[in-house]
Amino acid sequence: MEVFKTIKSLQQTLSGLNPKKSLGLVPTMGALHEGHLSIIKRAKKENDYVLASIFVNPTQFDNKEDLANYPNTLKTDLEALEAMECDFVFTPSVEEIYKQKLSADVFEFNGLDLVMEGKFRSGHFNGVATIVKKLFLITNPDKAYFGEKDFQQLLIIKKMVASEKLPIEIIPCEIYREKDGLAMSSRNTRLTPEQRKAAPEIYQTLLKSKKLFEDHDLPSIKSFVKNEFVQNKELDLEYFEISDKETLTISDSILPDKKYHAFIAVFAGQVRLIDNIALN
Ligand code: PAF
Repeated sequence: MEVFKTIKSLQQTLSGLNPKKSLGLVPTMGALHEGHLSIIKRAKKENDYVLASIFVNPTQFDNKEDLANYPNTLKTDLEALEAMECDFVFTPSVEEIYKQKLSADVFEFNGLDLVMEGKFRSGHFNGVATIVKKLFLITNPDKAYFGEKDFQQLLIIKKMVASEKLPIEIIPCEIYREKDGLAMSSRNTRLTPEQRKAAPEIYQTLLKSKKLFEDHDLPSIKSFVKNEFVQNKELDLEYFEISDKETLTISDSILPDKKYHAFIAVFAGQVRLIDNIALN
């Protein structure tokens, strides 16, 4: 496994690869967990070479404290990637990526960014699209892999790739869960034992909302979810929304032939956790 800190050294190596061989990119912010490693495994199966990037992208954090507290486990991350036989790792500094201009570009996402994460984390998706576009232009992969835990991010990235006409296939990867259902996240390591014990309630509530979706209207599902969290002293509900799966437009009623998805964001103390589920 080769580790690169500079764009120049990475590009030198990538440009020496056989152009007939495929490259899969797995962008991460580090603090790797089994979910990330399952994505690396999949990327290895589907490509000749796999490149993982580890970069905590400042422009996608609306909250300075969240950025400062983001876990950094570079040494164990590199060991885990080595054990997975990942071919290349890119771990640039903020200066290397942003040079003199530490700011996000502005993209048009056709409203995908106006709800849920986009509504509650101002500027977040411009930051995500900025770094992902930079990584794509630097590495020019054939395929790039993104987890469905960040379902809205996945749609935003697909939209950016289409608008910028980048010849890269975006591969969605299923949410990887702990045995008790909690979606794996680098942020889970920051939970206290009490918060960790309470956190599976998030997925349990999504499962219940999916069941209710069979024979209840959307306002009653929403008020059911609100009530579940009123009773929970470790978890504070930030939002629960039911949206059209393609456009992410928030729905108040169910139309036939449409696919719906439920999205949730919850605070456990200072730690913000998100999850989502397909309803039909
Ligand atoms: O999902 C993440 O870890 C980040 O948002 C990403 C895609 C690596 C961009 O910084």
